[in-house]
Amino acid sequence: MDADTKKRQAAESALDLVETGSVVGVGTGSTTNHFIDALARIRFRVDGTVASSEATAARLRDRGLRVADLNAVDEVAVYVDGADECTRHRQLVKGAGGALTREKIIAAAARQFVCIVDDSKLVDVLGTKAPVPVEVIPMARGYVARQLVALGGNPFWREGAVTDNGNVILDVHGLDLVDPTAAEGTLDQITGTVANGIFARRRADVVLIGAGAEVRKLS
Ligand code: 5RP
Repeated sequence: MDADTKKRQAAESALDLVETGSVVGVGTGSTTNHFIDALARIRFRVDGTVASSEATAARLRDRGLRVADLNAVDEVAVYVDGADECTRHRQLVKGAGGALTREKIIAAAARQFVCIVDDSKLVDVLGTKAPVPVEVIPMARGYVARQLVALGGNPFWREGAVTDNGNVILDVHGLDLVDPTAAEGTLDQITGTVANGIFARRRADVVLIGAGAEVRKLS
């Protein structure tokens, strides 16, 4: 089974965790796009959605789902999103799609965070395969890059990319992520950063892994 089919397999299995009459938080990326298509089939069972990016909001609306502002909803029952890397402790690196800040906000606000991945995303230690994206206020790009180098990182400006919040992204290779919670906090302390793509403090509650023969579950 190819990676995209495994992504769809994980995404479809997340439907079981959607509560009738609830607001569903929806992430960004190719795995989440499969989830949106699946969610559209049961759209009359959900009260609405909140979206982690403009691209996701457009796809949700196109599929007939109501998209609400996060400030206008009392509770997000479940947030479903993909990841670039995932450990067996359900800690993640996210943000290859550039939506990390809004993803982090909805994950923080949600009662349950469900991560959907294909099995190629599993790693023993975060940072093994994917860089850590850091969303940065544009005028702070050079300053933040120098601070990241001082921490042992190797930052690359994702040239041309502008986030939905009007900011830029630095993709950071080579950081020591053996203690991801500490690393997430350290990056958060750099003035001029908005958010980083380490999801360790608010990790996933459930990870659904499309693995071909079956969907594996971490919880
Ligand atoms: C976007 C993300 C995505 O969830 C992550 O990049 C995984 O993407 P895909 O499902 O396309 O593999 O964090 O900001």
